[in-house]
Amino acid sequence: MKNILITGGAGFIGSHTAVELAAAGYGVVIVDNLSNSDMTAVEGVRRITGCDMPFEQVDCCDRHSLAEVFDRHRVDAVIHFAAYKSVGDSVARPLEYYRNNLLSLVNVLEVMGEAGVRHIVFSSSATVYGQPSSLPATESSPRLPATSPYGNTKQMCEDILRDTVAANEGLSGVSLRYFNPIGAHPSALIGELPRGVPANLVPFVTQTAAGVREVLSVFGDDYNTPDGTALRDYIDVVDLARAHVSALRRTLAGENDARYEVFNVGTGAPVSVLGLIKAFERVNGVRVPYRIVGRRAGDVEAVWADTSLANLTLGWRAERTLDETLAAAWAWERRVRGM
Ligand code: NAD
Ligand code: WQD
Repeated sequence: MKNILITGGAGFIGSHTAVELAAAGYGVVIVDNLSNSDMTAVEGVRRITGCDMPFEQVDCCDRHSLAEVFDRHRVDAVIHFAAYKSVGDSVARPLEYYRNNLLSLVNVLEVMGEAGVRHIVFSSSATVYGQPSSLPATESSPRLPATSPYGNTKQMCEDILRDTVAANEGLSGVSLRYFNPIGAHPSALIGELPRGVPANLVPFVTQTAAGVREVLSVFGDDYNTPDGTALRDYIDVVDLARAHVSALRRTLAGENDARYEVFNVGTGAPVSVLGLIKAFERVNGVRVPYRIVGRRAGDVEAVWADTSLANLTLGWRAERTLDETLAAAWAWERRVRGM
């Protein structure tokens, strides 16, 4: 059995990926410093899978402790999720973001080198595209100058990975550029747990529907889009988790033509903010009070993925419908609130 070490595995996307890896027959070791998560996600993963997955509470910035994890476990590949991810926070605290996101990856790559681990999948983001001049965004659409330190760390990490793969013949790397991950596991045992006021749309929608927030602000209805609100590509977190399994399978089998590859992970379908709210209300039979306010600084008008490369090369495609995803998001919120 191949063993996969996942950093940030107690987080939103990492926990769902741990479940899909176990379902695909991989052994999983979870590493997380719990800076933006807690043990409930690890317990949820163990419950869903019935596997007593090892958990290591380690900070990837602590190179020595990270190396010890690789001594304790046989590792065939790494999926590196661990990072800080708040765009707004990164503007206020850039050095924390540069330190955590860059140093974590550098340490992971160095320790992998020492331990002879030759495969890594990295969590990148559609944020690297900014506002593409033509849509949908393909992997060869230009990366535009980042508008936040967070976005900059994703570009820099992609480059660190590309250069490290180029310099090390035995190493292969994949950057997955996620579009807008949303939803929760259908069991409602794991999901997204934002701390404080959510910055992202779907957690704000679910909390407003639950009565935790009074009203949802829709940031701008004067965009050049069919209903005036911004367009995004919302990808179900379980589909996203499965894209990691497909990417790993390919790299572990040595099927990648280039040793460093980049794939978009989205649905390929644009959805507007108002469209998402209406779908959520219809599917779940619940109201989401909202008001239109001004645009949010730094937001792009529209971005969605051309997913053909992942579809053809990884044999992966998004399968869950927006309705299923929004129902799962609501079931998770209700469980968290004891509703
Ligand atoms: P998350 O915050 O839920 O998960 C990240 C996990 O990493 C957390 O459990 C946190 O405790 C852990 N972590 C952070 N720094 C660490 C460190 N130094 N050592 C060990 N653990 C550490 O975030 P997520 O939404 O699951 O995102 C996972 C990855 O995907 C991140 O790299 C993020 O930038 C990227 N990404 C997320 C989105 C999104 O919208 N959620 C979109 C694109 C890319
Ligand atoms: C989606 C749409 C908002 C909240 C961010 C990061 C990106 C990536 C994913 C990590 C936008 C609108 C939102 C609200 C609203 N993360 N909105 N009211 O901005 O596309 O992407 O998360 O890599 O890097 O920038 O996602 O969920 O914040 O917003 O109207 O209360 O919903 O303006 O149009 P975004 P989001």
